[in-house]
Amino acid sequence: MKAITIPKPGGPEALVLSDVDAPEPGAGEVRVKVAAAGVNRADTLQRQGFYDPPPGQTDIPGLEVSGVVDAVGDGVTEWVVGDEVCALLVGGGYAEQVTVPAGQVLPVPKGIDLVDAAALPEVACTVWSNVFLTANLQPGETFLVHGGSSGIGTMAIQLAREVGARVAVTAGSQEKLDRCRELGAEILVNYREQDFVEELAKATDGHGADVILDNMGAKYLPRNVQALATAGRLVVIGMQGGVKGELDLGTLLRKRGAVIATSLRARPVAEKATIVAAVREHVWPLVTDGRVRPVIASRHPLADASAAHAEMEASTHIGKILLVP
Ligand SMILES: NC(=O)c1ccc[n+]([C@@H]2O[C@H](COP(=O)([O-])OP(=O)(O)OC[C@H]3O[C@@H](n4cnc5c(N)ncnc54)[C@H](OP(=O)(O)O)[C@@H]3O)[C@@H](O)[C@H]2O)c1
Repeated sequence: MKAITIPKPGGPEALVLSDVDAPEPGAGEVRVKVAAAGVNRADTLQRQGFYDPPPGQTDIPGLEVSGVVDAVGDGVTEWVVGDEVCALLVGGGYAEQVTVPAGQVLPVPKGIDLVDAAALPEVACTVWSNVFLTANLQPGETFLVHGGSSGIGTMAIQLAREVGARVAVTAGSQEKLDRCRELGAEILVNYREQDFVEELAKATDGHGADVILDNMGAKYLPRNVQALATAGRLVVIGMQGGVKGELDLGTLLRKRGAVIATSLRARPVAEKATIVAAVREHVWPLVTDGRVRPVIASRHPLADASAAHAEMEASTHIGKILLVP
């Protein structure tokens, strides 16, 4: 089959379309004939040599796909050949076929195009696990998501709005903030011109954010702690602003706040299956009802994966970038 490999880490041109053996599903796995793969920020780190796959896993990049089940391994009862699905992967999505544990597979939600469904698994699982299972966002609370126009941000805004939270975002342009408003964000901060701590304080009468979903890491750590409300929860999922920051424990202690950092890819298969089941129960009905939609910036042929990565790194996109074999 055709797949993208990374013979040598580097810039977008390091992604090479290659011929490789198609994977065979093991016990408890299905194989998916890929209709589309979602591009994630983590893939750009893997390409540069900064984010190796977990030991023993494929080094083909790609953390999510949609497609059609074309083979099932021993012991799989819930999926059959021909099912239209999307799936959360540990890797291997930038390919014509990929294998995945059956518990990480979801049906394509009614009303969603098979290709577009590739935009859902990673963002739905990341947002649901962090914002709801871990940080327990409640109706009426204020929720701040940094990078509101990112793949993650566009899903986080919609889900937080649906539970009745008040949503604040940061983004780097007015066009991106306008799109975040359309998706349901009320408090809009242009991080290039404004300070999010001040803007959030103004908009919430000094209350701050009950939950923050952060992609910046070190660079925003002090200001995120400042921006937290009493009993606030800061969940760090990205380190685009560095890994080592200073944590003001005095402020955190006075606020009785929590700082949590998580990674989805490294979780054991059983934990991923639990998250996927929760997404199917809580997020899929909202997608099927048309209340939550995948936000898709662009679709590129798999052979042009380099262009997809260049687009992500230029940050001209709003929502998800897809690769179509
Ligand atoms: N831990 C996990 O399990 C997990 C899972 C999935 C994703 N993630 C992380 O979640 C983040 C988003 O992922 P993605 O795939 O959705 O990536 P993406 O679409 O490329 O989004 C990256 C975002 O970063 C924003 N950004 C850059 N500088 C910023 C700043 N100073 N302040 C606020 N925002 C800034 C960009 O906004 P502008 O264009 O407006 O600058 C862009 O929206 C990444 O850091 C990724 O690694 C983590």
